[in-house]
Amino acid sequence: MAIPKSFETCNDYIQEMLLFLEKYQWLYNYRNTHILVEKQFSIIAIPWKDYILNLSQEDLQNIFMGKFDHKVPSSLIHFLKSLEAFEPELKLSTVKLDFVCPHNSGLSKKKIHEIQSLAPLIEQTCQAYQCDLIVDIGSGLGYLSHFLYSKYNYKVLGLEASEEFLHAAYRHQEKYHPASRGCVKFCRIYIKDDSCEDVERLIEEHFNKAENICITGLHACADLSIDILHLFAKMKSAKALVVMPCCYHRIQCKVESNRCEYFKNFPSSLVFKEEFHKHEFYRFIRRPFLRLACQRRNFNIFNLSEEESNCQARSWMFRAIFQAVVEEEKYCIRVKSSLEKLKSVSNDDDAFLEYVCTLQNKFVFEQAGSICNAEVFTEKMWKKYLENQNNLILFKFLMAFQARIQNMCENFVLMDRVQLLKQNGLTCDIRKVTDDFVSPRCFALVCVR
Ligand SMILES: C[S@@+](CC[C@H](N)C(=O)[O-])C[C@H]1O[C@@H](n2cnc3c(N)ncnc32)[C@H](O)[C@@H]1O
Repeated sequence: MAIPKSFETCNDYIQEMLLFLEKYQWLYNYRNTHILVEKQFSIIAIPWKDYILNLSQEDLQNIFMGKFDHKVPSSLIHFLKSLEAFEPELKLSTVKLDFVCPHNSGLSKKKIHEIQSLAPLIEQTCQAYQCDLIVDIGSGLGYLSHFLYSKYNYKVLGLEASEEFLHAAYRHQEKYHPASRGCVKFCRIYIKDDSCEDVERLIEEHFNKAENICITGLHACADLSIDILHLFAKMKSAKALVVMPCCYHRIQCKVESNRCEYFKNFPSSLVFKEEFHKHEFYRFIRRPFLRLACQRRNFNIFNLSEEESNCQARSWMFRAIFQAVVEEEKYCIRVKSSLEKLKSVSNDDDAFLEYVCTLQNKFVFEQAGSICNAEVFTEKMWKKYLENQNNLILFKFLMAFQARIQNMCENFVLMDRVQLLKQNGLTCDIRKVTDDFVSPRCFALVCVR
C-alpha cells in the first residue's frame, strides 16, 4: 500500500481523496445503526435512488465488475470509475507458518492465523537488521512474544498497560512455556509518545543492554499504534518496527461540536494535517469514517448469493429499525439477559418478528420510568418495519458500496502513518499480512532505521 499510482505527490492524493470523501459522504458519514434516525435515505442522489430501487443482485454484481448497461446512471459510472484512482497497490507478505499452539491455551483460529502471518515478517525484518531483542508493545497475554521465542529463539520484552493481563501473561508462561522464563519477560507500563527513556530503562533492567531492537505490536489498538510510531522515531536503539494497528475508530476525540470531530491522533502527520486544514474535513472525517476504515467484514460481499446478501442487509435494517423506534419513543434500555444472542435472520416478515422477540428476551424497555408493554413495543417495531420494508435494497446497496470503498479508506489512514514516519526521516512500508477470510486485521506497518 502506498500513494496510488495515479497521483504524483502525496499532497495531490490527500487533496483528491478529501474531495472525494466530501462528495460521497452520504455513503459512510453516519453511524450505520442510525441510518433511519438520521433519515439518510432521503439524501441519496435521486438518479441513483430510482435506479437502485429496481436493482437485482446480478445488476449489483455487474456494476462492480464494470459491466454497465444503458440503465446505469452516468454519475454512478463516473463514481465507480473514479474509485480506481484511489486503489492502493498491495505488497503481500506471503510466508505463513504452521503454528501448533499449546493444547487448551485458549487461542482462537483468528489469533493463530494472525500470529502465523505476522511472525515471519518480524523474523525477516529482524534478520535484515540483526535485531537481538524484540519489544512487543501491548503484549496482552503474550501469545506473540512466546511464539517469537519458541519459533526463532528471540529474547522478547512484552510491555503491557493492564496489570490483569500482565499477571495472566505470567500465569500463561508458567503453564505453557516454563522454559522461556529467562528470555521472555513482561513489564507493566503505559506507553505514551514520550516513553522512550522508560522503555530503555526496562530493557536494561531485564536484558542488560540490547544492541539492535525490533519493536512490534499485534493489534496495537487506537492511539497506541501512533504512540508506538513516535516511540520508534525517538528510540535510536530501535532499528526496526513491525506493527499491526487496529481500531482506528477508538482514537481519542479531543473535541466534538456541531457534528465535527477533532481527533488527537488523526491526522498525525504534518502533510496530512496541512491538507486537512484547507478543508472543513472535520465534518466528514469522523468516527464513522474511521470505523469503516478498520471494518473489513463485508469485503466478500460481491460474491454472496442473493439470499446471503439479503440476510446481511436485513440484519442491518432490523437493527436500524430498532434504533429508530428507541429514539422516537425515548426508550431507556436495560439488559435483561446478556446470554441470548440476537438471532441471525432468514427471509421474511417472520424473521422480523423473531428479531423483535429476541430483543424482548434480551432487554427491558422503560418509557418515562415505567416498563413498556411487550405488545406496544411489538406494534411500534412492526409499524416502522412496514414503513421500511421496501428499503431493503437501499441497505444492500449501501452495504456493498461501503465494502467497495473500505480498502481505500484504510489506505488513507495508513498513509498518514507512513507520512508521520517519513517526516522523522524513516522509510515505511505497508504490507498486507493476513487472509481477509480469517482475520480482518490485514495490514502491518514495517519501518527500518
Ligand atoms: C487488542 S489488545 C492486543 C493484545 C495482544 N497483542 C494480542 O494480539 O493478543 C491491545 C493490548 O494493548 C494494551 N495497551 C493498550 N494501550 C496501551 C498502552 N498505551 N501501553 C501499553 N499497553 C497498552 C491493552 O491493555 C491490550 O492488552
